[in-house]
Amino acid sequence: MPILRGVSAEIQRGRITALIGLNGSGKTTLLRAILKEVPYTGRISFYCGHDHSQPTPQHIGYVPQRLLFDPNLPLTVVELMALALERRPLFLGISRRARERIADLLKPIKAEHLIDQSVGALSGGELQRVLLAMALEPDPELLLLDEPAAGIDFHSENEFYGLIDQINRTRNVTVVLVSHELSMVSRFAHHVLCLKDGRIPCQGAPQMLTPDKLAEVFGQFKGVYEHHRH
Ligand SMILES: Nc1ncnc2c1ncn2[C@@H]1O[C@H](COP(=O)(O)OP(=O)(O)OP(=O)(O)O)[C@@H](O)[C@H]1O
Ligand SMILES: [Mg+2]
Repeated sequence: MPILRGVSAEIQRGRITALIGLNGSGKTTLLRAILKEVPYTGRISFYCGHDHSQPTPQHIGYVPQRLLFDPNLPLTVVELMALALERRPLFLGISRRARERIADLLKPIKAEHLIDQSVGALSGGELQRVLLAMALEPDPELLLLDEPAAGIDFHSENEFYGLIDQINRTRNVTVVLVSHELSMVSRFAHHVLCLKDGRIPCQGAPQMLTPDKLAEVFGQFKGVYEHHRH
């Protein structure tokens, strides 16, 4: 049975697009379709600003909603990252070069101090930072973030979105992020796609998220968005 139907949307290059919608509306599935991890009919096209002969992004960075490995694996952050980044078995040890490279990746994310922590001991927010650092190497043209700040406290959440905003501006990377935090969406996203039952009932600049539109997307809407804005 199809999960998404008749979805038609444009994601603007170099901008931040937020995907919003109720649980089960198809947000994760849409990201996984962009990653070609779920079968779909229709077309997902990439238009590259500088080189039309290479329409697919060289690299897509992805921070998943859920980890598919046991976070209690007895691995440290540097080991986890070395496994993903280095083409050499971990039992050979981590070279000084690799360690420096990993430290350089963690630094702009303000996670350098976590390098020798065990992955299982990281807090939710710390783990999200590490996963974001991993998604940024190699330099992605497109960054897909599935609820990257879920479970993060309000202060860290603000900081985390600020970081994504900074990454978007300094690296000119296109960002698609799933978020339930409408106040963050209205602050940081340039464009919003609403998903409802596998369709896109509305899309546009965050200003289009009026209480009426939100009621359409979320059903009974109790004005949380208005509350956040004032
Ligand atoms: N591999 C799958 N096989 C069958 N059904 C699936 C599969 N993946 C997702 N679904 C179903 O598709 C629908 C959309 O799921 P999806 O994970 O895309 O929702 P979501 O918008 O990301 O929700 P949430 O906010 O809870 O993360 C759900 O009803 C889900 O049960
Ligand atoms: Mg999801």
